[in-house]
Amino acid sequence: MDTRLLFQDPADFATPLLAVFAVNITTAAGKDAKPLPALLSASDALTKAASHFLTAGEFKAGSCETLLLHSPSGLKAERLLIIGLGKAADLSPDELRKGAGTAIRFAKPRSIREVAIVFPEDRALSDEALDELPPLLTARAIVEGACVGDYDPDTYRSERVDQSITAATILAPASAQKSAHADIERGFAEGRIFADAQLFTRILVNEPGNILTPLELGRRAKAELEPLGIQTEVFSTDKLHELKMGSFLGVAQGSENPPALIIMRYEPPKPPAANAPILGLVGKGITFDTGGISIKPADNMDKMKYDMAGAAAMMGAMRAIALLKPACSVISVVCSAENMPDGKAYKPGDVLTAMSGKTIEVINTDAEGRLVLADGLHYARQLGATHLIDAATLTGACVVALGMLNGGVFSNNEDTYSRFSTGMLTSGEKFWRMPCTSDYRDLIKSDIADIRNTGGSRWGGAITAAMFLKEFVGDTPWLHLDIAGVAWMEDNRPWIAKGPSGVAVRSIVEWVRSF
Ligand code: BES
Ligand code: ZN
Ligand code: ZN
Repeated sequence: MDTRLLFQDPADFATPLLAVFAVNITTAAGKDAKPLPALLSASDALTKAASHFLTAGEFKAGSCETLLLHSPSGLKAERLLIIGLGKAADLSPDELRKGAGTAIRFAKPRSIREVAIVFPEDRALSDEALDELPPLLTARAIVEGACVGDYDPDTYRSERVDQSITAATILAPASAQKSAHADIERGFAEGRIFADAQLFTRILVNEPGNILTPLELGRRAKAELEPLGIQTEVFSTDKLHELKMGSFLGVAQGSENPPALIIMRYEPPKPPAANAPILGLVGKGITFDTGGISIKPADNMDKMKYDMAGAAAMMGAMRAIALLKPACSVISVVCSAENMPDGKAYKPGDVLTAMSGKTIEVINTDAEGRLVLADGLHYARQLGATHLIDAATLTGACVVALGMLNGGVFSNNEDTYSRFSTGMLTSGEKFWRMPCTSDYRDLIKSDIADIRNTGGSRWGGAITAAMFLKEFVGDTPWLHLDIAGVAWMEDNRPWIAKGPSGVAVRSIVEWVRSF
């Protein structure tokens, strides 16, 4: 999809579909209060074209609610699509993202190939609502939302008709002041970078396990990131032995497809000071998780191709980092393997020795993600990482705890956590903090080794996994993102297709940019 930014009056723009946002404002107070939809546009022609329909009562401007008008009078557009963003007081960049995605996904099945979106203007908004929507973030959110909305995962259909939108144009106010003008342009450019990174992630997550093997994931990292200046190395079994990554190797040994250790490095344009932070991004890249000898039930096992979504998020983040050029060095370590049962597979009861020297009693071979990450986190520290973030589709327990709207976030450091939570305000992604304090340490006590890879009961499974990872980060400030419930959309939504969500890319990059 081609995205364009024009500073032009929307009434004069000829397009098959002009999309304009509306919010619900409340008139008067007390018992006379009446919800009323109001357009977010300063164009008189647009307001006039829509006014009758806004007062008719059939459209309430609820979140992602749409109203389509054909041949709107006084406009050059063939159709006017009014998109609700919910209550004015709750307006956020994320509502705009969803609204822009809704415009694109409205057009796609209707054979409309070009869409123009009106940059929201203040008329109907209170000052507080506007504070949440500075021009840069507004432009960014619209581009991100539009690009996210354009993706459909049906790439393997042999008679697939590509319904992608050819051009999405953002129509920004021609009257914008110089500073706003520059901010809108910057937000537009950044939005495209974030959107493309997220798209790269989603395409990887959608790939089936027979095609996207660990080494193929490594090839994709090289092919996509090296041209952008990210130094990328891909290692396999021999190197894992050399590094004594016994935990990672244990998981990989039951598969015909060899593992891949993917290292990606970004250096900022201006060489950083000797003591500057080096950020370590570690991803779980299980290209298929059968559960191994502790095999999973057949129902929904097909979904376990997305068990590499943490790795894909890191690769997407590295793509955005290469283009946004933040000020500090970043090293990403992806640990990729298949978790398979066969004659050589690791078994419950086995004891593995991790790269750090810690011994691990394997209770359940389906708790494999933490085993590959143990070596990945340790290695990232050895490569010099001063701050760590990992992302993993780690536990079903996290899905039980938080459902599919919030990912889980764990941290051992308040400053690092606060950088991350501030970034969420911009990224619009939702993560809920869960504990990993030392009083939970008993969960991973083993009778025969240093630690074991699962807890003794079903309770607190996401915390058990985090406590396990914590054993391998030492005193390095660290964030752990459990994205098991949010990396895959179970259903189609108005703004995004069912399938891979690309979650965590934006939040990881915001965290990196905070340094
Ligand atoms: N890949 C799964 C976690 C998962 C579950 C991801 C659902 C996405 C959706 C992970 O490797 C796993 O199997 N975890 C086990 C751990 C258990 C054996 C302690 C789980 O969550 O059941
Ligand atoms: Zn598993
Ligand atoms: Zn897994």
